[in-house]
Amino acid sequence: MCGIVGEVGNDQAVSLLIHGLKKLEYRGYDSAGIYVNDEHGQDYLIKTKGRIAELESKITDDVHGTIGIAHTRWATHGIPSAANAHPHVSADGRFYMVHNGVITNFKELKQEYLADVDFKSETDSEVVVQLVGKFADEGLSALEAFKKAISLLDAGSAYALLMIDRENPETLYVAKKKSPLLIGVCDGFNVVCSDAMAMLNVTHDFIELHDGEIVELRKNEIKIQDAQGNAVERKPFHVSQDASASEKGGYEHFMLKEIDEQPAVMRKLIQEYVNEDGTLKIDQELIDTIKASDRIYIVAAGTSYHAGLVGHELLEKFAKIPTEVHVASEFAYNRPLLAKKPFFIFLTQSGETADSRQVLNQMNELNYPSLTITNVPNSTLSREASFTLLLHAGPEIAVASTKAYTAQIAVEAILAKAIGMDNHDQAALDFDIRKELTKVANGMQELVDEKHKIEELAAKYLVKTRNAFYIGRAIDYDTAIEAALKLKEVSYIQTEGFAAGELKHGTIALIEEGTPVISIITDQAVAAHTRSNQEEVAARGANVISIVSESLAHSGDQIVLPEVHPLLTPLVAIIPAQLLAYYASEQRGYDVDKPRNLAKSVTVE
Ligand code: F6R
Repeated sequence: MCGIVGEVGNDQAVSLLIHGLKKLEYRGYDSAGIYVNDEHGQDYLIKTKGRIAELESKITDDVHGTIGIAHTRWATHGIPSAANAHPHVSADGRFYMVHNGVITNFKELKQEYLADVDFKSETDSEVVVQLVGKFADEGLSALEAFKKAISLLDAGSAYALLMIDRENPETLYVAKKKSPLLIGVCDGFNVVCSDAMAMLNVTHDFIELHDGEIVELRKNEIKIQDAQGNAVERKPFHVSQDASASEKGGYEHFMLKEIDEQPAVMRKLIQEYVNEDGTLKIDQELIDTIKASDRIYIVAAGTSYHAGLVGHELLEKFAKIPTEVHVASEFAYNRPLLAKKPFFIFLTQSGETADSRQVLNQMNELNYPSLTITNVPNSTLSREASFTLLLHAGPEIAVASTKAYTAQIAVEAILAKAIGMDNHDQAALDFDIRKELTKVANGMQELVDEKHKIEELAAKYLVKTRNAFYIGRAIDYDTAIEAALKLKEVSYIQTEGFAAGELKHGTIALIEEGTPVISIITDQAVAAHTRSNQEEVAARGANVISIVSESLAHSGDQIVLPEVHPLLTPLVAIIPAQLLAYYASEQRGYDVDKPRNLAKSVTVE
């Protein structure tokens, strides 16, 4: 959601910034813009609605600069348009600014300070640059005006801000609160970006910024100060990830590449977390802290929430600690009665989701311990939680999450096993995680190797349909709702994931001739019941598709799953569902990796 890049001191500002924007493209956006200045009186502002390719087509050969800022916008306040795209400019044309986040009190600020200013956009962001322009006009220096404007943003506001003063274009002014932002340390120039991936072609050394900090970034200087104006010294951290990890590597779409990578991710997790002797590489302090709690709360959004539902089964079975799973955006403002000694687990691919972060902030205030399970080291939720476990899935670029979901479940299984082993719990001791995750990896491989069969099913049942259902019971219901989310988000087929037994209590009214109903059956205890529910919808004209474990399969079942541990079946059952979603989207001619209206990292509440 919104990408932000800046650079100072390199005479290839345009190509550097455009490259950075392209690397952030996957996050989702609907307009883009760039401002560059050559420090000799020439500057250029170019903005467009639509894709970065359109922005590039508007950049003529004469456009050049040694300092610049660029942005991809995901509309929140105001429609996607060139006028609403960033950078925004102060009324006197002196200050240029890009912003990620939300200014919650922008209306009040407009009324109180800027009633006479002619705004060029409908955005909340423009108010900040107009405030800087006003305060500079009243006699403050650029830095003072920048700081004063920021001091007026209310507590609910979130921002990553980059600003250039046209009258003094050798400094990039930077500020951050809640929205992610990193300084990239280079030789002879410096960069700034909302995600390290944007700048891995020029540096692997990044300085994280903390909330409230302000930076003056120059060619050979990085001057950080905290909210009170004290100088801050912080060493860079090294990002070892190869820039090519975020390339498509011969695939037409990232989503398919990432689906195919899942067996390798399972093996990587065994390598990262399981010792040769079967013991686990999980910090004893983390295990002790979780064991000291009387209830675990898993908090997450979207697909990560669905991974949490499976984690609930694993933690209760092996760690024997009562566990609840909550949607972050609900939990933040409608908190249940908490246990006496709660422990919080935040599941988040990006580590930046604002809804989850809001809950973590609240729980930190209450001094409750927490763990973030994330794919992104040094991400905000990782830094702010008491503990972190990494997903080691490699960059997930497609907006629809696939390998992060399965990696989250695998890490939850490892964690549950680690706690159970520490308790000498027999079920946990018997759960041979190396063997079980290896079986999963092999099973996933069999399924991705047969993807042509799924492609045919998508062509037969999903190309034309308006709606669809996934049904399942118990753990298969957990998979069904993730499967439904996958299908709807990339193919735009209205899909519901339903508890199979609940369908007849109302929703069965929606079944028509030809409605696809895909049932997931891996749990022996409820298989016969789900089969009956299949019959009920088939009798009303539905096209029934079955995704069934080998031991429960009947002749005529379209997708048969390799056998794995009963609590790990979502790891294999989701593979055909991910592939069905991928092919349905592709066959319908949609932009698989960048579905409409969606963003990869959702940094607003
Ligand atoms: C769906 C998807 C989203 C994310 C959700 C949370 O495919 O990717 O539902 O799972 O926005 O994001 P993270 O995991 O980054 O907190």
